[in-house]
Amino acid sequence: MPRYAYVNDSYIAHRNASVHIEDRGYQFADGVYEVIALINGDLADERGHLDRLERSLAELSIAVPLPRQTLLLKIKELIRRNRLRNANIYIQVTRGVAKRDFKFPDRTRPSLVITAWPFRFDGNTAVEKGAIAVSVPDIRWKRPDIKSVALLPQVLAKQAAAEKGAYEAWMVDSDGYVTEGSSSNAWIVTKQGKIVTHSATQSILRGVTRTAIIRICQELQMAFEERPFTLQEAYAANEAFNTSAVALIVPIVELDGYKIGSGQPGPVARRLYEEYRSYVKEGRSQQLPWTA
Ligand code: PDD
Repeated sequence: MPRYAYVNDSYIAHRNASVHIEDRGYQFADGVYEVIALINGDLADERGHLDRLERSLAELSIAVPLPRQTLLLKIKELIRRNRLRNANIYIQVTRGVAKRDFKFPDRTRPSLVITAWPFRFDGNTAVEKGAIAVSVPDIRWKRPDIKSVALLPQVLAKQAAAEKGAYEAWMVDSDGYVTEGSSSNAWIVTKQGKIVTHSATQSILRGVTRTAIIRICQELQMAFEERPFTLQEAYAANEAFNTSAVALIVPIVELDGYKIGSGQPGPVARRLYEEYRSYVKEGRSQQLPWTA
């Protein structure tokens, strides 16, 4: 268990950390969040995550709780107090505490909670051995581009996956296209060797890791395309993988019972994983904008 959490201006013992029952995050899921990987002391893609946080807040007309540099100081202080070098940092901002009423309250101060959970990036079994995914219908609202804390469809998707012994759920829209994973972006490597992921429309969360991987593909001149793809194309792909700030790049070796490629993590996913780790280690991730 992490020992400290940051809750509205204070670092407090995690076991005592709480928010008010009238917080709109609790009452209406009226809030947004970010997850940033701390890898060997480096906050991976910190700029991209803070760009996206501010954009999610703006889309919902929630005030920025702290200026960016101050927020970063709070995050780093929480990391220091918890003595962490490898962790997932969760930043949650809600519209704040107000008498229950659907419409925006007149005056509220946004609530800010930061938590830090230790995470082992090195030797992660899902990354090394690959993971299983199953498809589920994408039943989310029409703005999954906002990183909202309203995650019930993803909770149900992940539970459905878990009940089938799978690690991730790939969500499929009503036209039969894979949008993304329940908490990650979905990618395939086609038979022709092209790396494909859904375009950054309002139908997906534009992942910060996704942006970085696209940049890496461009730098390495790896064939890459942003477009929707179907489950059939995925079943027949050379490789499949997911990207997110939590586990970075997880090869998907089985989807809906179909073995993907050789049924082992493929060379493209492995290479991108190594390249992403170097990109963070060399400090190149720090200034990459979210929509680069
Ligand atoms: N999820 N798509 C969805 C629906 C997500 O929830 C996430 C991240 C991503 C990947 O975004 P990024 O690369 O910026 O992490 C895509 C976080 C990790 C979570 O909810 O825990």
